Amino acid sequence: MKDTLKKRIQDTDQKYLSRFLEGEVPGRIEKQLEEMDWSCLGLIHEKKRERGHFEPLKAMELSEITPRREEFRAKGMEIIKQGKVGAVLLAGGQGTRLGFDRAKGMFNIGVHKNLYIFEQLIENLRQAAGESIPLYIMTSEKNDKETREFFKEHDYFGYNSDFIRFFVQEMVPAVDFDGNILLESEDSLAMSPNGNGGWFKSMLKAGLKQDLEEKGVEWLNVFAVDNVLQRIADPVFVGATVLSGCVCGAKVVKKADPYERVGAMCLENGRPSIVEYYDLTPEMAEAVDESGTLLYGFGVILNYLFSVEELMEIVKSSLPLHVVEKKVPYRDEAGVLQKPAEPNAFKFETLILDMVYMMKNCLPFEVCREREFAPVKNAVGTDSVESARELLKKNGIAI
Ligand code: UTP
Repeated sequence: MKDTLKKRIQDTDQKYLSRFLEGEVPGRIEKQLEEMDWSCLGLIHEKKRERGHFEPLKAMELSEITPRREEFRAKGMEIIKQGKVGAVLLAGGQGTRLGFDRAKGMFNIGVHKNLYIFEQLIENLRQAAGESIPLYIMTSEKNDKETREFFKEHDYFGYNSDFIRFFVQEMVPAVDFDGNILLESEDSLAMSPNGNGGWFKSMLKAGLKQDLEEKGVEWLNVFAVDNVLQRIADPVFVGATVLSGCVCGAKVVKKADPYERVGAMCLENGRPSIVEYYDLTPEMAEAVDESGTLLYGFGVILNYLFSVEELMEIVKSSLPLHVVEKKVPYRDEAGVLQKPAEPNAFKFETLILDMVYMMKNCLPFEVCREREFAPVKNAVGTDSVESARELLKKNGIAI
């Protein structure tokens, strides 16, 4: 092993790696250690990031959208027909809360028939705008192969495969709560996908800039894998964002109550931002305008529209890394595989909401939550397989 790496392991007192100081170190581990950002180890001891000055950001509410729906749709369709809108499916997450050990999109949400999450998302995309929207699917090293195979096996759920491109996101090592880098196997660190904020960088790294240029894509609608009811490349949303003159749009839903655990759209230091529920003071959570609407009352659902031109600008700066607690299987000092039942490790993630903060402006665009928000995060309870099934049924979708 190179002396510089040895020194790093010694300086940071790595309990699971010290045995490699003397003997042979598997080539893959050495490479992973060389490529990793060691500065992230310091982040676990840092205080929580100070937030800036928050102010409300008015959403375009349904009451304003409804009378202008056709105008927005016409504008959105015009742009979509010109081939200027692409869609990006963020499917690199590990979906640990669901407890399904394959790519989350492969989960069968059907009851009386098979209905895979990926299948439903493709159907939603087709419904909103037809078949010719370029679809970019972000996977991680952990689920890339199975995701590609699954799509192929199901004939891309009838979507034109010429319009589908896959790309893989980057990985970072996980550490235990004392900062010890974890081993997943005898020849690999416990690597995790680096969060959902790195998608555009990873797209460019995969050479997809050329694809965007060739197809003339000017807007990208980015969405999460788990909301089975969302509309994708929704012409009304596209039209409203473009006509408002914004470089970014965010679909939002009215919060169920002031303390609902969702991030609320706001301004932070004058820039569009998302304030997490734990950063909301009770005064902010309950503040209302003259008509009684909550000022921080619109939660994001991870469905954003970004101008590609702006993305090309912001990709030049790096995003902050967040420290997140997760359950990560690892080899203990005796080399035995441990599968923790409770969170045991920190992962380092970039988040898409930090990209919103880098945008010049953003239109929060209200959608009806019963029609467009059915996230599958947990196996049971809130935002679960059960609640999503109920919502699918309510919307007349046969499951
Ligand atoms: P979540 O925040 O729900 O994370 O992702 P997760 O890893 O999928 O699930 P849990 O927290 O372990 O249960 C929101 C969206 O961002 C994507 C997910 O696939 C999902 O669409 N994502 C998340 C990535 O693409 N990459 C990541 O590294 C993390």
